[in-house]
Amino acid sequence: MNTTTAERLPTAGRIEARDLIVDYQTDKGTVRALDCPEFSVEPGSNVAVMGPSGCGKSTLLGLLAGLAVPTNGTVAVGDITISSLSEQERVSFRRRSLGMIYQADNLLPHLTVEENVGLQLAICRSELAADHRTDPTELLERLGLADLARRLPDQLSGGQRQRVAVARAIVHGPSVILADEPTGALDTEHAERVIELLVNVQQQTGATMVLVTHDPGIGAHLDRTVVLTRPVLPGESDDAH
Ligand SMILES: Nc1ncnc2c1ncn2[C@@H]1O[C@H](COP(=O)(O)OP(=O)(O)O)[C@@H](O)[C@H]1O
Ligand SMILES: [Mg+2]
Repeated sequence: MNTTTAERLPTAGRIEARDLIVDYQTDKGTVRALDCPEFSVEPGSNVAVMGPSGCGKSTLLGLLAGLAVPTNGTVAVGDITISSLSEQERVSFRRRSLGMIYQADNLLPHLTVEENVGLQLAICRSELAADHRTDPTELLERLGLADLARRLPDQLSGGQRQRVAVARAIVHGPSVILADEPTGALDTEHAERVIELLVNVQQQTGATMVLVTHDPGIGAHLDRTVVLTRPVLPGESDDAH
């Protein structure tokens, strides 16, 4: 894959989070969803986030994406403290700087592969530099997905759909890629191909990547692994879970 000027990164993607706490108030009292004193990722590197179910992996990713703000603590991406931005500013941040991939591919079923990728670019367009010229067709070609361009999502295998989801996540040249169990629904062979594509894309574009997985085999493909532990409220015993 060649890196073109269209993929110049909008902000350096160093991620730095400190003293993160996320609490939810429920009818059964306070639930602590995340307790993470320190989480940082160097620009252009990738990290796997692992840990038991319910330890706050998706919550952490949501904070890094600016989809939610922490109860306590700060999240910075590059020189932007996203935990202090307004909701509208966080929307712009996501369109300019962020590519996200989930366990479900979330492709729109009535649009072709090319149109799904093109739509993402159109949504982000208002926040992109005027010289951002990624062509969805050309991107699919570079990612080895050209044969799939005219298909509808239900004409693809699960692994193919996730590879298209990777293309969609990076079409606007994000400086940060966040993936939440992107291979959770795939068998080992398809999972490996998706991870290979993701790591390849991350390295070629110089983006910073945080990937949540429960699979140590997947974690082994990444530069570093961070293991989260289940948060415990003061006075609560860990056996409560
Ligand atoms: N909106 C919410 N209201 C109450 N509890 C929540 C909410 N979202 C997440 N939680 C709780 O926070 C904890 C962490 O959730 P999550 O980040 O999804 O964990 P993981 O992704 O590691 O499995 C879990 O105990 C979950 O039930
Ligand atoms: Mg999760």
